Amino acid sequence: MKVLIVGGDSRLSKFIEKDFVNSKTQYIKTSRKNTSNSIHLDFNFINEFKIPKNLSHAIIVGGVTSYDDCENNYEYASKINCKNIPQLVSQLLKNDIFVLYISTNTVFKYNSLPKENDKPSPGFSYANLKYISEQKITTIASDISRTNKLSILRLTKNVCNNTSPFNNWLNCINEKKKFNAFNDLYFAPITFENSSKAILSIINNNYSGIFHLSGEKDLSYSDFANGFLDFLNLDKNLCKNLKSTEIGVKLLYNHPITALDMSYTEKKLNIQKIKLSEIYTYLSQFIDK
Ligand SMILES: NC(=O)c1ccc[n+]([C@@H]2O[C@H](COP(=O)([O-])OP(=O)(O)OC[C@H]3O[C@@H](n4cnc5c(N)ncnc54)[C@H](OP(=O)(O)O)[C@@H]3O)[C@@H](O)[C@H]2O)c1
Repeated sequence: MKVLIVGGDSRLSKFIEKDFVNSKTQYIKTSRKNTSNSIHLDFNFINEFKIPKNLSHAIIVGGVTSYDDCENNYEYASKINCKNIPQLVSQLLKNDIFVLYISTNTVFKYNSLPKENDKPSPGFSYANLKYISEQKITTIASDISRTNKLSILRLTKNVCNNTSPFNNWLNCINEKKKFNAFNDLYFAPITFENSSKAILSIINNNYSGIFHLSGEKDLSYSDFANGFLDFLNLDKNLCKNLKSTEIGVKLLYNHPITALDMSYTEKKLNIQKIKLSEIYTYLSQFIDK
């Protein structure tokens, strides 16, 4: 097994790499920067990329991921996410390489938890582009009879100690300072470690199809922050609960249902929804003793 990580500088890729090193899985990663431990790939110039030899699997992790970039630079984001990345997937599949494409819960805007095979209904640019990309690669795989070599994994929000707003919260808690948390923004948290484990399970077993990885339930960022303070036995007054509009933030996506139904994934991968307590335990390691 030899795996290509496409978009090797992404946050998620760092965790996949760690798992590959631990499991002694051979891998190569791509980067648009000129670094010695990766091969060069700028999604903007996809024709310049030569697929390395002897690959068995590829994981498509990178892409235009910023909600703002997708909104404000739609044409560019569309070229990268919906034309060039599917073109790369097509080449990989034609070379008989198993492809896992990382997608998002935001392709849905449902009033109940969407299942793996429900039809997406994206409500903003980033989600729309990810759904178009999903559709394109699915059609490509079907047209060249490689459906059994393609899988899609949709993730809910990955919590990480060095991404916003959690980095700020952790600093404030450590310095006993107040921090803001929105009560009109919702998520069903998981961690990059959880995502990486699901990815390894899919590629190790060559499971094709659509999979979901979700936190156990939706909650607002402020409910999450208060729960975390409770978990730490700290004063809840450290968290100031407020609406995004109170500090002039315009949210592009604040649907209250972001969790995913993962009945099929649970059976197939033997992975359960991620418990909230697991996320609190993960974050608590960054709190000063
Ligand atoms: N993070 C989450 O909570 C979450 C939730 C659901 C789904 N997802 C999906 O999971 C995947 C990984 O997410 P992430 O948060 O780890 O991503 P990320 O940290 O935002 O990384 C995106 C990567 O794409 C690369 N990239 C962007 N444009 C490029 C170009 N033109 N050429 C080459 N590389 C380019 C970036 O390169 P540079 O480093 O050079 O900028 C960056 O390393 C994404 O597909 C995302 O949609 C993430």
